[in-house]
Amino acid sequence: MTDSKSQRYQFFDQHPEVADFREDIIQGLSAAEAYILPKYFYDETGSRLFEEICNTEEYYPTRTEVGIIRDNIDDIVETLGKDCLLIEPGSGDSYKVRLLLDALRPIAYLPIDISRRYLQDEAQKLAAEFTWLKVHAVCADFTGKLELPYHVEATNKVAFFPGSTIGNFLPEQAVFVLDEIRKMVGRGGGLLIGVDLQKDSEILNAAYNDKEGYTEQFNKNLLLRINRELGADFDLDQYKHHAFFNEEKHRIEMHLISLQDQQVTIDGQVFQFKKDQAILTEYSHKYTVEHFQQLAEKAGFRCVKTWIDENGLFSVHYLNLAADSD
Ligand SMILES: C[S@@+](CC[C@H](N)C(=O)[O-])C[C@H]1O[C@@H](n2cnc3c(N)ncnc32)[C@H](O)[C@@H]1O
Repeated sequence: MTDSKSQRYQFFDQHPEVADFREDIIQGLSAAEAYILPKYFYDETGSRLFEEICNTEEYYPTRTEVGIIRDNIDDIVETLGKDCLLIEPGSGDSYKVRLLLDALRPIAYLPIDISRRYLQDEAQKLAAEFTWLKVHAVCADFTGKLELPYHVEATNKVAFFPGSTIGNFLPEQAVFVLDEIRKMVGRGGGLLIGVDLQKDSEILNAAYNDKEGYTEQFNKNLLLRINRELGADFDLDQYKHHAFFNEEKHRIEMHLISLQDQQVTIDGQVFQFKKDQAILTEYSHKYTVEHFQQLAEKAGFRCVKTWIDENGLFSVHYLNLAADSD
């Protein structure tokens, strides 16, 4: 007999406060080179737009990573081991984890995401679909201290971190995020992570400038969200989406460019933007396999296995704790 969904689904709310959002926006827009942290893309609308981006012809990472997982499913499951506690930071629509669940049979699945309403919807759908699975959804910011919502005795804890979300961080910040994941999974645990690879800039530039305009809407949704939640007055028509591959830094940079001299008021504070001035909204770093493995080692991980698609576009790695990490 299976437990009812209400027995198997739990929700833990550690969503950041609006005051934190306000403070981060004001700090970012006051900087010499204005920026908005990419975690703020993800309100419910942003999460739905990200789904659309993943389905565009140009956005190769999602279908390539899904292909890698499908093609290597037996090997991946054998490497991870059954009966783990499966934790997914930045779980989004939990689409990729569906490929693993039946074979992996985790004791529970913990999706962690900052997009509260979206997380609740997607986690409940998953609990209805997998009638044997315990789904313990955690709404939290994984860039803070990563803690499980309850104490778990020495179980095999595995983190699943697909989508190359790690690429959104500067390499030194990425080491910090990986280090937090390492501490959370502990000795005996591991991390299955998807990392986008360096490639021809034409493919990269197209991926972040889709013809249907979903990436543009996703980028501009940040301004809409700031208007709605912080009472600001950004005029969306006066900003343009701009994304390009920076060859020297091996990263996509996404910006919003001011189309004229203008000012914006947020919570009583006035911000001036010059014509052509940029607000940085996202980095997406692209790695070589070797460079990513070095980064993981800095965070105390050791690379056990790497899977790559036949075109060398994307990589999936299984990491566990290096012998000398605590
Ligand atoms: C690039 S998407 C990847 C989604 C999904 N894992 C995939 O592979 O398609 C990043 C996801 O991480 C979540 N996210 C981004 N920054 C976050 C943060 N600081 N804390 C928690 N979740 C975050 C977003 O809401 C979004 O669902």
